[in-house]
Amino acid sequence: MGTPHIKAEKGQIAELVLLPGDPLRAKFIAENYLENSLCYNKVRGMLGYTGYYKGKRVSVQGTGMGMPSISIYTHELINQFGAKRLLRIGTCGSIQKDLNLRDVVIAISASTDSAINNLRFNGRNYAATADAELLFTAWETSKKLNINAKAGNILTSDVFYDDDPNFWKVWADYGILCIEMETAALYTIAAKNKVQALTILTVSDNIVSGDHCTAEEREVSFKQMMGLALETI
Ligand code: HPA
Repeated sequence: MGTPHIKAEKGQIAELVLLPGDPLRAKFIAENYLENSLCYNKVRGMLGYTGYYKGKRVSVQGTGMGMPSISIYTHELINQFGAKRLLRIGTCGSIQKDLNLRDVVIAISASTDSAINNLRFNGRNYAATADAELLFTAWETSKKLNINAKAGNILTSDVFYDDDPNFWKVWADYGILCIEMETAALYTIAAKNKVQALTILTVSDNIVSGDHCTAEEREVSFKQMMGLALETI
């Protein structure tokens, strides 16, 4: 039973799904934030769990890195397992002076340097956009929790190690806050399937200065992001 990448029974995965890139993050979240969690997937080590948060049934599924990987998992979660609300939680590299390590970013939209959507839309440009209801809820929740989140356009890139040290400049000029590698795919696939999606990120490194978070700093900002994600859903 299941799909090529998710070995679960129908009904084992909740309509609400948290999507960290790292499968061990999925395990950590299930063990530390959810009650009565059960692991439903181990295929390729891409762990997935279902449990409860304040009585709500929630799944947490690792997606791997990059648009092809998250595309596979979200396609199967939505089409084969009935996922309706997808919340990516991840890290990003800042390219703006006023966006610091550990800050929280809510992605209104995701620009991309990837060819995936060029192929899908025959060379035309698609604006991959968050679900408005989830976006506004996350924004209001960030205010209630006293989290100084920034909301804006981000870049979903296919390249982590770019040959050009200045590749980020044109994106920064046009207001892109930060760079990660999955959201444009998540928003596009959610839109196609008429389900809701949102990405919340913490800044783990600064692409301009080369600074990055210590393990302790990562943990504190991870807790903030998790609080925001769980209260949003
Ligand atoms: N580039 C792409 N993705 C990332 C980065 C980065 O610098 N930092 C965290 N995710």
